[in-house]
Amino acid sequence: MVKKIDHIGIAVESIDKARLFYENLGLVCEKIETVESQKVKTAFFQIGELHIELLEPTSDDSTIAKFLKKQGEGVHHIAYETDNIQGELDAMRKSGHALIHEIPITGAGGKQVAFLHPKSTFGVLTEFCME
Ligand code: CO
Repeated sequence: MVKKIDHIGIAVESIDKARLFYENLGLVCEKIETVESQKVKTAFFQIGELHIELLEPTSDDSTIAKFLKKQGEGVHHIAYETDNIQGELDAMRKSGHALIHEIPITGAGGKQVAFLHPKSTFGVLTEFCME
C-alpha cells in the first residue's frame, strides 16, 4: 500500500527560469541534482509533507525532452511513497497495469523509483519511490 504522495514532477525547459516562480511562492530550493541515468536535472522544493520536483532535460534524447516537445511544460508525474516498491510493482502487474520498470531503478537522492505507464493509470504517469 502506498503511504503518501511524495512529490509532483513538473517538466520545465529551464530550472533556472522556473525556480523563480516557486521561490516567489515562498518555497526554498532544497537541492539541485543531475541524474545521469535519466538524462535529467532535478530541483526539489518542500511544501508541507510533499515536494515539487522540477525536471529539466540534459540531453535531446531524454524522456523529459521528448515530453516537452510533445506536450510542452507542465505536470509530468505524481510519485507515491512506499516502503515496498517491488511489492507495489508486482501488485500493479497482477492487476493488469502496464509497468515501465519491472524492477526499480535509482533516481534522484539515491531513491529507488519505478514508473507505471499512463495508458493504464488514466493518463497520469505514476511513480513509486522508496528511501
Ligand atoms: Co519523480
